[in-house]
Amino acid sequence: MPAPDYDSDGSRRGSRLSDVADYRAAARRRLPDFLFEYIDGGSYGENTLAANVADMAALTLRQRVLRDVSTLQMQTEVFGQTLSMPVVLSPVGLAGMYARRGEAQAARAAKAAGVPFSLSTVGVCTIGEVAAAATPPWFQLYMIKDRGFMAELLATARQAACPVLLFTVDLPVPGSRYRDARNGLNVASPAARLRQAIDGLAHPDWFWDVLVRGGPQSLGNIAAASTDLGALQEYMGWIGRNFDPSVTWKDIDWVRERWPGPLVLKGVLDAEDARAARACGVDGLVVSNHGGRQLDGAPSSVAALPAIVEAVGDDLTVLMDGGVRSGLDVLKALALGAKACLIGRAWAYALGAGGEAGVSGMLAILRQELRLAMSLTGCLDVREAGRSLLTD
Ligand SMILES: Cc1cc2nc3c(=O)[nH]c(=O)nc-3n(C[C@H](O)[C@H](O)[C@H](O)COP(=O)(O)O)c2cc1C
Repeated sequence: MPAPDYDSDGSRRGSRLSDVADYRAAARRRLPDFLFEYIDGGSYGENTLAANVADMAALTLRQRVLRDVSTLQMQTEVFGQTLSMPVVLSPVGLAGMYARRGEAQAARAAKAAGVPFSLSTVGVCTIGEVAAAATPPWFQLYMIKDRGFMAELLATARQAACPVLLFTVDLPVPGSRYRDARNGLNVASPAARLRQAIDGLAHPDWFWDVLVRGGPQSLGNIAAASTDLGALQEYMGWIGRNFDPSVTWKDIDWVRERWPGPLVLKGVLDAEDARAARACGVDGLVVSNHGGRQLDGAPSSVAALPAIVEAVGDDLTVLMDGGVRSGLDVLKALALGAKACLIGRAWAYALGAGGEAGVSGMLAILRQELRLAMSLTGCLDVREAGRSLLTD
């Protein structure tokens, strides 16, 4: 069901939400501050987060004219799946805290738009709940220390027919996210819990939708392995204690033995690592710095992308994420060699702003922006987007 203040096309009654920045502003109003900051923030000085956006903005598209743009091909194929446009919803943790059963809502919006939804290991909804609500999601794997549990989780994803496994490799330890630290997301402190409770009560729509009607609020996929997690609000601290920092390239073999389908490493930023990934036999990469939430000072995704495409683009499917806030950004990333873009904050803001209808509205905006960008650059087919779409 669309949230009450949304029309069926996802636009907000009375005041239209026209771009991702509008969804961000709407999410800021609706969500408790500690949750908005969790979505919005990055690590340390947030320089990489800013660079993801700024470097994307600095790329200039070539305006071309008189090219008969009446028919555009926006579909593409990734890992045997047809995407209605080259966009995938990135795995985002705790989405079920932004809106009631948020992962299920976003997955429904993604299905309606014809694009894949990726479910985080640390999502609130389970793989089964998302599959029942929409379709089996791409599943994102974090390696936690309990390998027996990890093997079971992979078996669950396989049995649910998840079409792609995204193995996130840029978070052996959580980045230092100072906004979360200030909001008490990494400590089990009664004072922080009280502040968060007051924050929640000050946002009654969210409180009613998520806390009253949206339970259970647990990490659905790993609930059995996270019984020591008191409340989701303390979960950054739990991650620090339970994620496995000893992961190496050898563990790719361990995953591979348990996952016969497309295996994609998410969080590769270096061409040498990309070549190592190819040697391990993975099927694809997501060029990503985790949305600027891990190593601050790392290059932006869009700056790292060309060297990785050059190193392994003929052999592996190279996707990217980080800083994609519009359909124009999608086209820029394709121009630099990505086969498709993942979007993180764009859908997280939209979900927080308006649930399923919000995500549908945001995806419709992205599609329209991509269509216009293709029309005005004379790009007739997303599969043929290349360097010639950029000015230099
Ligand atoms: C609130 C939030 C939670 C995230 N949680 C996860 C996660 O659980 N697993 C993961 O692989 N990446 C996670 N990411 C990273 C995203 O998948 C993606 O790499 C990043 O958001 C892309 O940058 P963008 O937000 O600029 O689009 C998260 C990002 C955000 C903003």
